[in-house]
Amino acid sequence: MKNTLKCAPKSPFALALTRILPLLIVCALATTLSAVAQAPVPDSPAIEAQAQAMLAKLTLEQKIELIGGVDSMFTHAMPSIGLPRFKMSDASVGVRTWGPTTAYAGGVSLAASWDRKLAREIGESLGEDARARSVNFLLGPGVDIARSPVGGRNFEYLSEDPYLNGALVAPFIRGVESQGVIATVKHYALNDEEFNRHNANVQVDERTMREIDLPAFEAAVIEGQVDAVMNSYNQVNGFHATQSEFLNLKVLKGDWGFKGVLMSDWDATYDGVAAANYGLDLEMPSPKFMNAKNLVPAIQSGQVKESTIDDKVLRLLRTELRYGFTTRPQFDPADSTYSVADRAVALDGALESITLLKNEGQLLPLDPAKIKTIAVIGPDAWPAIPGGGGSSEATAFEPVSTLTGIANLLGPDVHVLYSRGLPEMNDVFHKTRWEGSVKVETYHSSGFTGTPDSGMRRNVADWQPNQWEAADPNPRSIRYTAAFKSDNAGKYLLIAAAAGEDTFKINVDGKQVINQIHAEGQVPKYTSLDLAAGQTVSLQADYLPHAAGSRFGFGIAYEPDLVSADAKQIASLADAVVLAVGFNPPTEGEGHDRTFTLPWGQDALIEAIAAANPRTIVTLTGGGGMDTRRWLDKVPALLHTWYPGQEGGTAVAQILFGKYDPEGKLPVSFDRSWEDNPSYSWYYGVPGADTVLHTTGENGTPVDYTIEQIKYGDKLMVGYRYWTTTGKHPLFPFGFGLSYTTFSFSNLHSPAAAASGSTVAVSFDVTNTGAVAGAEVAQLYVSDPSAKADRPERELKGFEKVRLAPGETKHMTLNLDARAFSYWDEAAHKWTIDPGKFVIRIGDSSENTPLHADVTLE
Ligand code: BGC
Repeated sequence: MKNTLKCAPKSPFALALTRILPLLIVCALATTLSAVAQAPVPDSPAIEAQAQAMLAKLTLEQKIELIGGVDSMFTHAMPSIGLPRFKMSDASVGVRTWGPTTAYAGGVSLAASWDRKLAREIGESLGEDARARSVNFLLGPGVDIARSPVGGRNFEYLSEDPYLNGALVAPFIRGVESQGVIATVKHYALNDEEFNRHNANVQVDERTMREIDLPAFEAAVIEGQVDAVMNSYNQVNGFHATQSEFLNLKVLKGDWGFKGVLMSDWDATYDGVAAANYGLDLEMPSPKFMNAKNLVPAIQSGQVKESTIDDKVLRLLRTELRYGFTTRPQFDPADSTYSVADRAVALDGALESITLLKNEGQLLPLDPAKIKTIAVIGPDAWPAIPGGGGSSEATAFEPVSTLTGIANLLGPDVHVLYSRGLPEMNDVFHKTRWEGSVKVETYHSSGFTGTPDSGMRRNVADWQPNQWEAADPNPRSIRYTAAFKSDNAGKYLLIAAAAGEDTFKINVDGKQVINQIHAEGQVPKYTSLDLAAGQTVSLQADYLPHAAGSRFGFGIAYEPDLVSADAKQIASLADAVVLAVGFNPPTEGEGHDRTFTLPWGQDALIEAIAAANPRTIVTLTGGGGMDTRRWLDKVPALLHTWYPGQEGGTAVAQILFGKYDPEGKLPVSFDRSWEDNPSYSWYYGVPGADTVLHTTGENGTPVDYTIEQIKYGDKLMVGYRYWTTTGKHPLFPFGFGLSYTTFSFSNLHSPAAAASGSTVAVSFDVTNTGAVAGAEVAQLYVSDPSAKADRPERELKGFEKVRLAPGETKHMTLNLDARAFSYWDEAAHKWTIDPGKFVIRIGDSSENTPLHADVTLE
């Protein structure tokens, strides 16, 4: 029950920090006010009869009205059958749509915790937060696979591994739904990249889908009993997800027996008849395609059966009745909009997920008694960055930044010095000293044709949305021509950014150095120019505004001048430096992918600060791996904080100063370079393979979409499956994370032989061999050397987090069911076990598995 769990946080540090008194009061109040029977009841003949009776009272037009959303975040009401409208909210890190909220360590952070119990707690907290805001549908969790480090929404999703995703998503969903709130698992399916997400067709074979991309959805449906699923924007094998017979009818509603509501992503419906026939139950946010105008004639002509519409309405009604939405208020007075108990859960999430990747010479933990002055530097040090950007971006209550977390922990006697370290992007645009002026030619066409209007400008810093689209929506293209003369010899950064789906190309001395292709958003692009002293370069930027509110800017800065003098000075004065770098909502979020390289200037910042103080600890914010090549060997300590939610700064401070032993483990392989990642050659559209989709828009006019063909040629070779199969090594392997203590594994027992299809129990000991309490994640990988099909060298099939006092040993047992040994047989279209030898490996990462044993399945 929710109050029991949240009023007894497992970590002593978490409990200490939540100021015990208010927490106890909240818990006492919550217990007194606690509402009963919040969880949904199972389907029953009574529910069925009620739903059928409601359906029988509806006209065809009314039924169709019910399968489209209204007012962006509501289902349609039908007062004649006593059906109010039901409210939705986005979700990944907090209940974000209806005002400020508690922001948890969601998505990739949760995956880095490897903790099923935490997943349940965060799910329950989100459920309570939803009830406190009268929300019926929570639009999360997201579980697409982290196939590549640049995927713009990886931070909202979980990990690169289907088993880990499934193991966490099921308790998370059960937590949300236990509070009487419908969870919506999304984005079904294969929305693994944000690049051109509306116009991408993922070409993927069934085995890759079944083994890599679909298992988390399968676990959500079968183990999590999720009651809503959201279709993605992209196409899969030639069909938009919202009209994919394979995904929706064959797999989701057929193989997995999903009985709930399949809704579209917002404006992810492209054809009303096809969506109606191929499984979509609810078009969001409004019925642009599944409406009476399109469906009534289709029903009259027999293209769509009325029973198909009835099925959708019944799915909605049954689900809403099971949750009691028509008979009880969704607002639950037992739940708080703001609560210190929620803050404790948010803190637990951050503490459990922050991952220590490097700790040379045991620099960490820092001894607070020995720190008189600390410098906290970097664009991510303040303000707090609880999550990434887009529809999941919550306005967190009182988010704690790294700077404030450290200052709070150290108290008034320690000097805490702060510098951002780098200028804001707009400053670089404004301050660039071009030779003479920049020539601006505005063409009244999208292809730099015709006679342009010409003008001169001092700089290119249109970093406010342009106003002209409203007055003149015609296409235009803008060419900027400029010259730049270097004062010094050395590295210069050329930085450029545009908004939304704008595109641009920049040439320096006639050579293209930046090419922003469509739909990559406003992530600033940059490149390094090596210039001699007094060298003049010519620059041409061709800019194509697309979106309303488009904006563009570019500039050049001398790298050694980028890092502020005060940052270098405070670094040199301090006893230690915490340098917070990485991404934030504008640079990593929905609708665009992110770079693998750190945002501009940060590499130079790290080098300069590390040179000023050898005791520099780098903390990273971001949804996965990033490029550390320029500086990793120059810094002694590295901590990945992911997106740690609103209590992130408190957790970082506790870990840095040894109040909490770091226990996060990488949920993704951390690559050295983007080129090293197995998806690199397959990530963007196959050149020349674009196709045109002729379709009809919502107002009946013909619409053509150019569809980019994304071929999943990397197949099963995602993340550590690739690294362990090829015998190559990433920078840090999947599952890896350091601790302030050490652990050992011993005493492995598993049967030498077992019947194929039976459950195999594997047991072993984990011992804390160090001096402080800590948590280890025991990971079990299965190899299938005698399989008839090619299989990845090893695959995660079990794990368990264990908390151990110094010297303590725990005996653990993990059970492997038939699926743990199976692969998807492409020819037979089913899961298959090839009898023969399997190898079981136990360890603390995908590469360090000290225990192993053979099991023969007969
Ligand atoms: C996102 C969904 C989100 C929806 C509603 C879409 O743009 O892809 O994840 O739930 O908006 O905000």
